[in-house]
Amino acid sequence: MNILAFESSCDETSASVVAREDDGTFVIKSNIIASQIETHRLYGGVVPEIASRAHTEAISRITYEALDAAGVSLSEIDLIAVTSNPGLIGALLVGVSFAKGLAAANNIPLVGVDHIKGHIAACYLSGIDNAPRPPYIALTVSGGHTAIYLVESYTSLRIIGTTRDDAIGESFDKIGRIIGIPYPAGRGFDELSREGFIKACGSEDNFYAKYKKTSAYKDKDMTLPSPALSDGSLDFSFSGLKTAAINLFHRYEQSEKELDFALFAARYTYEAVEAVAKKIDMALTQYPDMDFALSGGVAANSHLRARLAQVCKSHGVRMLMPPVSLCGDNGAMIAAQGFYEWESGNIADSTLNASALDSIQ
Ligand code: KG4
Ligand code: ZN
Repeated sequence: MNILAFESSCDETSASVVAREDDGTFVIKSNIIASQIETHRLYGGVVPEIASRAHTEAISRITYEALDAAGVSLSEIDLIAVTSNPGLIGALLVGVSFAKGLAAANNIPLVGVDHIKGHIAACYLSGIDNAPRPPYIALTVSGGHTAIYLVESYTSLRIIGTTRDDAIGESFDKIGRIIGIPYPAGRGFDELSREGFIKACGSEDNFYAKYKKTSAYKDKDMTLPSPALSDGSLDFSFSGLKTAAINLFHRYEQSEKELDFALFAARYTYEAVEAVAKKIDMALTQYPDMDFALSGGVAANSHLRARLAQVCKSHGVRMLMPPVSLCGDNGAMIAAQGFYEWESGNIADSTLNASALDSIQ
């Protein structure tokens, strides 16, 4: 069956055509993403009203682009899927209203998709052998979320650990901003951190593992707290790490000492990644012998990918993750989750509405 899917929860408008084959594989026929990043960069973050307008301007055009690129006509679409929550309410409303209109006018079934379930479903797009099988443990790390889930079935998820304040991606973006990395800072921060790790370790060879023994790590002026809460839970607090990093930055500004941005970024990344690694290690101990799936925009982080691969290896479990190109917001992941919502009978009617709120508890 052919699924036409829409994603407009934040600063990317995406339309995608994905075929679900009879053997259970998903084939991405097109995945058009109109990014608004350049528009928002001027303001250092997403401006919700501008995002809604940009989605409105793009959605019709990219729908035709997605159908054209897939070589599929609207009459060959069997299902329409759309992100309905969580996200920026005005931005979500554009996708939901458009999808509802298109579904009603063409008599095509419609499903609303949770954005987080969509991110996790990106892991189903790399072939059956590379897809996690429920029940499994999923970590979603994005600009708005940092949570560990027990995926009980393709449509039923339970939060087993979460950030109590900021999301990891948001914290990378904020710290990146103070050291001059353009929004969204995640990728630049990743690269700058690599430079810092290599500088601290003297060579590229196995740099991350050596980092903790270096004088850069032992430098007391660069100490940062771990965002892993030590209360036995699987929860995080990234606002403590972020505030400590901002204070460190200001302390350097007020003193004569120059802050080495690469070493600073490496230190920040190290604390963030190690905290996530610690909680995933705990989760895999509590829920043994299950697949582990990594998803969300921050899943593109090279240090996080490498470190979590080590944790999974030590537990003897599979680590599944989308290619970097499908870690950020895109329509194809919404199509994959849309299929499972349809299969479970979660068909939407004309009352489908957008919601800014999380639906997974
Ligand atoms: O999933 P996503 O595209 O949007 C949300 O649902 O939030 O995630 C965006 C986040 C941003 O905070 C961005 O800085 C971060 O993903 N990001 C990264 C990397 N690439 C993108 N963070 C760390 N390292 C990266 N390589
Ligand atoms: Zn997202």
